[in-house]
Amino acid sequence: MKDYKKVLLANKAWAKEKLELDEDYFTNLSKDQQPNFLWIGCSDSRVPAEEITNMQPGEVFVHRNVANLVVHTDINILSVLQYAVEVLKVQHVVVCGHYNCGGVKAAMGNQDLGLINKWLRNIKDVYAKHDAELHQIEDENARFNRLVELNVSEQVNNLVQTTVIQRAWKNRELPHLHGWVFDMHTGLIKEVMDIPAGSKIDDIYRFDFHTDEQVSNSSIH
Ligand code: CO
Repeated sequence: MKDYKKVLLANKAWAKEKLELDEDYFTNLSKDQQPNFLWIGCSDSRVPAEEITNMQPGEVFVHRNVANLVVHTDINILSVLQYAVEVLKVQHVVVCGHYNCGGVKAAMGNQDLGLINKWLRNIKDVYAKHDAELHQIEDENARFNRLVELNVSEQVNNLVQTTVIQRAWKNRELPHLHGWVFDMHTGLIKEVMDIPAGSKIDDIYRFDFHTDEQVSNSSIH
């Protein structure tokens, strides 16, 4: 049987199983979504957000891209972030990277890979920023693992620098931000960074939000 036919068959079996356990399952599922989490993960097929956290449909809003990057000019992730934070009002945003990340590995190398060079460039910038620390690590695999962790931390920092997060912190003191790394050798997630809502923001990245009245009184037209 063709691979894709198997997938469709598996879907039928899954839906049947859900209905056997709870005949209202899909009636309830289709009503609404109120996930507590936004997950920003790597597209890698070995790191499925729901599977490794045992979360069920409806519990996590997911965005995945190569090497779990939060890029300020990426309208895709910014739209996901805005919707998750402002409409769904998630309480936590998780950036989850993983060891053995092909994207991070490629960024450590010098091969011309075409279009994706531009995407991986963001990871090279993380490397350059932490060059002093990474330079000290002689073992290449250990340096690779550390870059995976630093990449996650920098993506969490990138979240803080968005107006979406800063406005939400001001208005409702949420969401909290977390940086995690999944280890596929053990199946376990390592916490590498936590930024609770309301944490101090670097001055150069901080936005002041005006009320409507202040805007209309402003001398800038
Ligand atoms: Co990856």
